[in-house]
Amino acid sequence: MEELKEILAKTIKESIELEIDYKEILDKIEVPKDKKNGDFAYPCFNLAKILKKSPINIANDIKAKINLDSRIDKVEVVNGFLNFYINSKDIVTSTLKKIVEKKQDYGKSNEGNGINIIVEYSSPNIAKPFHLGHFRNTVLGKALYNLYEKLGYNVIGINHLGDWGRQFGLLIEGYRRFKNEYDINKDSLKVLSDIYVRISKLAKEDKSIMDIARDNFKRLEQGDKELLDLWQFFRDVSLKEYNRIYKILGSKFDSYNGEAFYNDKMEEVIDILDKKGVLVESQGAKVVNVGDDMPPCIVLKSNGSTIYATRDLAAILYRARTYDFTKCIYITATEQILHFKQVFEVAKYLVDEKYQKGLVHVAYGMIRLKTGKMSTREGNVIYINDLINEAIEKSKKIITSKNANIEDIDTVSKQIGIGALIFNYLKSNKNKDMIFDLDETLRFDGETGPYIQYTCARINSILNKADFNIENIVINSIDLSVLNNKQEIELIKILDKFDDVIKKSAIEYEPSILSRYLIEVATIFSRFYNECSVLSVEDINLKNARCILVYATKIVIKNGLEILGIECPEKM
Ligand code: ARG
Repeated sequence: MEELKEILAKTIKESIELEIDYKEILDKIEVPKDKKNGDFAYPCFNLAKILKKSPINIANDIKAKINLDSRIDKVEVVNGFLNFYINSKDIVTSTLKKIVEKKQDYGKSNEGNGINIIVEYSSPNIAKPFHLGHFRNTVLGKALYNLYEKLGYNVIGINHLGDWGRQFGLLIEGYRRFKNEYDINKDSLKVLSDIYVRISKLAKEDKSIMDIARDNFKRLEQGDKELLDLWQFFRDVSLKEYNRIYKILGSKFDSYNGEAFYNDKMEEVIDILDKKGVLVESQGAKVVNVGDDMPPCIVLKSNGSTIYATRDLAAILYRARTYDFTKCIYITATEQILHFKQVFEVAKYLVDEKYQKGLVHVAYGMIRLKTGKMSTREGNVIYINDLINEAIEKSKKIITSKNANIEDIDTVSKQIGIGALIFNYLKSNKNKDMIFDLDETLRFDGETGPYIQYTCARINSILNKADFNIENIVINSIDLSVLNNKQEIELIKILDKFDDVIKKSAIEYEPSILSRYLIEVATIFSRFYNECSVLSVEDINLKNARCILVYATKIVIKNGLEILGIECPEKM
């Protein structure tokens, strides 16, 4: 599809009497929602202004001159649009051949050309359990990582751990006081967060605790060995827990350099800002003004200490030097929108424009819980380990109730339970707040992960029954043009869009485009399978052609789910 679009853009360019950039034409070509308006449409309105002619006249001129690729059947002029219709016969054969040939590589491209892109994701604050928000972050980040990798970029995954700040001075004091009352090896993050809550309460009553905490952190910053060891212990314990979840989700990080890593790298930032004369004093603090519509970015507090934003500035400088990135994508909840706006603005004093322009904040909405068992346990916090276990247990029940003899039930229920959670987070627009409802997430018959996994398993079973093995097929010996009814064409056309969908999802930082596409593929497949028999067709060529179409659908679903971080069970 993408290739044909590019060819089309070139031919349009050749038929316009104007020096116009090919890329500009390409960007304007649309894929109409309603197929009545063709498979591609090119609006002539912007040309009208330049050429001082009506859009309809321009469209007609182009139509008269254009030298169409054989894969385009016809072109029509409607209200200033040129609508192009693809030759279905051609697309049937070329799409299916391409999918069968590329298999797991279908959807992959080289457009990234090995260019470096940073995806910074997950980034929890250590010594606290992982909650639903971190889960959304991790799942979203992983999907973006995979999308850009699929497009041929060299993706660097960074987990910017929240592992520095005055709270560690307080935690150290709490740990010293209360550690003997707990078993840190059991549920360690819960222990650490309980200790933190206790000591914070005490500190409110007893001001001297705050002084100790402040002093602890100061010594930590200066590299006190004993305190650093303790801090390192908190960090190791936290990462051990997080890694269990990362392993389950298949998240990869190339670096765990968090806030602490920048402890000795902030001085340079302050120096640069100072030398450029943009660091100004405001109520005792040192700030950088970032325009009239935002409050200034605080770099040093009135007591001279650095803050979260200072570390982010140091990270930008470090990342530009270390990774020479084209894009550096940050994923956090919407609460941090202002923070990143300020920091990105200040970044222009620290790094070249090309880096500053590459800074991107991807914000996701809040997650609320549908009140129920899980929400009451611990205030309003769900611990992700509990959630994952519950999802697996519930899917086990659902699967066994459908098929009591399923093999390797443990693996399958893991794939389904976890897949359902991931899909649930990726199916709606990232900016949207969402209400989390585990039962809805696990339904086999809605817009869910299990529904799509089920389509894949159903395809395996069809292909098995048909005794179809792609390895034994010589594709050129099969006449694929027999696939010409409405459902077949509809299915092939959507499979052909896979690479466009990947690109769009990546460009818009929106994996939900891919998720929704997969729902559509599964639905269209189901329509096809209801209308077109596969197993009972007598004509052997038609049967093989349909099996190839079924197989191609599986490739697209499997590759798509893989990008989202979801596995497909063979049977379910
Ligand atoms: N640790 C932060 C939090 O949990 C998120 C960090 C986001 N990344 C950054 N470079 N500031 O809210």
